[in-house]
Amino acid sequence: MLQLTDFSTRLIAWQRVHGRHDLPWQNTRDAYRIWLSEIMLQQTQVSTVIPYYACFLDRFPDVNALAAVPLDDVMALWAGLGYYSRARNLHRCACVVSMQHGGEFPRSVDALAELPGIGRSTAAAIASFAFGARATILDGNVKRVLARVFGIDGFPGEKRVENTMWTLAESLLPDAAHKDNVTAYTQGLMDLGATLCVRGKPDCARCPFAADCVAHVTGRQKELPASRPKKTVPTRKTWMLVLQDGDSVLLEKRPPTGIWGGLWSLPEAADEDVLAAVSHSFGGSAELQRLMPFTHTFTHFKLDIEPRLGRANGVPDAADNQTVWASLANIDAYGVPAPVRKLLDALRRAR
Ligand code: ADE
Repeated sequence: MLQLTDFSTRLIAWQRVHGRHDLPWQNTRDAYRIWLSEIMLQQTQVSTVIPYYACFLDRFPDVNALAAVPLDDVMALWAGLGYYSRARNLHRCACVVSMQHGGEFPRSVDALAELPGIGRSTAAAIASFAFGARATILDGNVKRVLARVFGIDGFPGEKRVENTMWTLAESLLPDAAHKDNVTAYTQGLMDLGATLCVRGKPDCARCPFAADCVAHVTGRQKELPASRPKKTVPTRKTWMLVLQDGDSVLLEKRPPTGIWGGLWSLPEAADEDVLAAVSHSFGGSAELQRLMPFTHTFTHFKLDIEPRLGRANGVPDAADNQTVWASLANIDAYGVPAPVRKLLDALRRAR
């Protein structure tokens, strides 16, 4: 079992030799430059960020320059980076730092985390890179490293698991011996997660923790960290009327919004008795025959479908264009939802 104190020592040693040292936002203690990079890197990979970062620094060399321009100018320069709320918060944050903090970023994690767009982990990254603060980061990459090395089960997006990870991450911090250690440690966590301990194919052969890593030792790299649990979707039930007249069935136009909006489908009811009344209202029998039930899965719910067969005899088309007697051989001419179409195809083959 890996000693907690060994973790930072080994990580710092690894980072110094194998980590990244020449990214454009490294080798500076300028909080503005570090903040800008951390915001850009929140949901975007390094190679995409680099040219944007250069453009921003060129146009806005310091936080006051960024605060001085209208938001539209920032949005225009951000265009293509995605997650545009980051750009709006970036500008708001620049304004707050410029007007309320005299153009200087606050030094404490808590004060940084009060600023727009800066969460707990980003605040810690800025404090650690800019001020050498002994502060704990926990982003997606770090969660993956911790889940694997220490064998933490459960989805890291879940509060309980995340809390466990924050506590662990805090206990792993190096001693505050000197500021460079904290910087190398924080950078090392990021580097390990981004270059070796990657999601798809981790390069365990080159990892300084391979011998102790729970995931590596037990061959569970693929299972750790656990992925987002599948949501259990609610189930609804509906009764569908296949009202048949010779080789035709009655189709009804669905309302323009909601599931299958605007498609042609079978008349539906919330229970069997109501469906019998529906059949009657269309000139069909109230006596209905049970067909094979089936389930259709939508993104947000499942629909249990109970089809019932009714008989009609020479009922004319209604004049409202909302219902039609469609020939089973010609169902393709109508936009019919796939599961309903399958049902009607089966009926046609059975004839
Ligand atoms: N991702 C988030 N912060 C980063 C940093 N400072 N360097 C590289 N990748 C990062």
